[in-house]
Amino acid sequence: MLFDTHCHVNDEQFGEDLEATMERAKTAGVQYMVVVGFDRPTIEKALKIVDFYDNTYASVGWHPVDAIDMQDEDLAWLEELATHPKVVALGEMGLDYHWDKSPKEVQKEVFRKQIRLAKKVNLPIIIHNREATEDVVTILREEKAEQVGGIMHCFSGSPEIAKKCLDMNFYISLGGPVTFKNAKKPKEVAIQVPMDRLLVETDCPYLAPHPYRGKRNEPAYVKLVAEQIAELKGISLQEVAQQTTANAKKLFGIE
Ligand code: NI
Repeated sequence: MLFDTHCHVNDEQFGEDLEATMERAKTAGVQYMVVVGFDRPTIEKALKIVDFYDNTYASVGWHPVDAIDMQDEDLAWLEELATHPKVVALGEMGLDYHWDKSPKEVQKEVFRKQIRLAKKVNLPIIIHNREATEDVVTILREEKAEQVGGIMHCFSGSPEIAKKCLDMNFYISLGGPVTFKNAKKPKEVAIQVPMDRLLVETDCPYLAPHPYRGKRNEPAYVKLVAEQIAELKGISLQEVAQQTTANAKKLFGIE
């Protein structure tokens, strides 16, 4: 029984065969998933999906790349959505210095606003970080994000940074990259982070695990991530599945 804590089956790449994708996930033992929306269209689509499929939940937020587009009414809309029974987190939110569509200062402000909202509505947060680790950690600390905690999504940092995040009440979520041959840091993180603080995800349709690297990713492949963690930790797949699913349910307040 696996929990894909971060997927985008709301992406248009799943338009044609969403039902078959959900079926394959079930067959692979993926019982739960969180569908992540990060702007108006993807949030609306995520809500449609979670209204239709059992054991699917939504996270709603504003992506840092598009921070410059977020208006006050968008933030108010996120607050409204926080009361939806299947919305279990806010995000993805954070900082992305790889793309320069939104200036850093705007990204930081939009990130802070969403953390404050999460504390107001008492939901955990899902963090997107690309090439901005130091500023992400600083803002999480300054905004006292540990009050709600959350997930460092598709974590790619060092074990030292992972430790800092654990100390702030965050879980570490690993995705496809942990299965890549030359991915030293994610493998090291998988070994060092205790089982009760690890989660698994796909971030599909992106970041497909080996041997599907470069192809469209999908929730069924989260099993390959869990298998890799089991191998690295020297425990069974069943143990990884059981513990990561229990962690996710606890964090999202499911059951
Ligand atoms: Ni994502």
